[in-house]
Amino acid sequence: MQAASSAIVVHGGAGAGEELSDGCRCAAEAAAQALARGEQGLAAVIAAVVVLEDDERFNAGTGAALGLDGKTIEMDASVMDSRGTLSAVAALRSVKNPVLVARDVARSPHVLLAGEGAQRYARLMGHAPYDVVPETARRRHWELLEKMGTCEQPMAGVDNIEFARFWNYGGQPGFDAPQGCDTVGAVVRDADGHFAVAGSTGGSAPSLLGRVGDTPLIGCGFYAGPAGAVAATGIGEYIIRNMLAITVYHWIAAGVDLHLALQRGLALVPPDASTGLIAVSKTQAGWLANSSTPFAHIQD
Ligand code: GLY
Repeated sequence: MQAASSAIVVHGGAGAGEELSDGCRCAAEAAAQALARGEQGLAAVIAAVVVLEDDERFNAGTGAALGLDGKTIEMDASVMDSRGTLSAVAALRSVKNPVLVARDVARSPHVLLAGEGAQRYARLMGHAPYDVVPETARRRHWELLEKMGTCEQPMAGVDNIEFARFWNYGGQPGFDAPQGCDTVGAVVRDADGHFAVAGSTGGSAPSLLGRVGDTPLIGCGFYAGPAGAVAATGIGEYIIRNMLAITVYHWIAAGVDLHLALQRGLALVPPDASTGLIAVSKTQAGWLANSSTPFAHIQD
C-alpha cells in the first residue's frame, strides 16, 4: 500500500473541559511516537488511550467514575482497525487499563467479553487486580450526589428519580432523588493508509449497575474501515440510538466532507446532551463537540 500522511486525533470526553487538553496532547504524542517506531495505527490508538486511562483526571481506567453506590466501578473499552481487528470489553471491574484487555480479547474466539467473564479473562491475560480510587473520582462522586438532590438533571432528559426507582446496587440509594458522562478515545490514519480507533470509559454517571454504554458497541461509540475511523463521546444512550460512529463513517465513505459529516452527526443528538466526535479519513482529520471538550491533533 502507498505511504500516506499520518494523522492522530484524541479526545478526553465530552464536557470534560478544555483545561484537560494537555492530557490529550500527551496521549497524541504517545500515538505519534508509536507510529514513529513503525508500529501500526492500532498500537498508536492504544498507546494514546493508555495515557488517558493513567491520568486520573479522565473518566477511564484509574479515573473511572464510581457507581452510584460509591464503590462499584464498571468500565467499557474497545479497539478496531481497518486490518480486521475488532474487540471490546464491557462492565469490566478491577483492572488498570481496560483498553489493553479489550485488545487481548482479539486473541480469544470472541469480539466482546462482559462482566465477571471479562475480569477472569483479564487475569488469564496477566492483567493484575487494580482497585485504586483516586481522590478526584471520590470528589466527582460526591458532587454528583449533591446534584442528584436538586432539579438539575446530570443525565440529560432523564428524571433523577428514575435512578432511585430502578436502584439495583443493593441497599438504599445514597441520595434523596437523583454529572456528566465522558469517555476517552483516539483515531489514527497510519503511514500505510490504514485506520484505527480505540476508546475507554468509566461509563456515564449517574447509571444503574450493569449499564453498558456506547463505548464497547461497534458502530455506536467507534468504527474503523477502509474509508476512515470515527469515535464518539457523550451519553451512550443517545449515541447508541443513532449508531453515531457508523452513521458518520458511512457519510465519510460516501464522499461527504469530514467536517460536514461531524456536524450532521452531532445534529442527531439533543443539544443539551454533551456529545463529541473525532474522525480521520483518507485526506482529512477533525473533531467537533457541542460542549467544552478537550482534544488534540497531530498531523504528519
Ligand atoms: N460514552 C460513554 C458512555 O455513555 O458510557
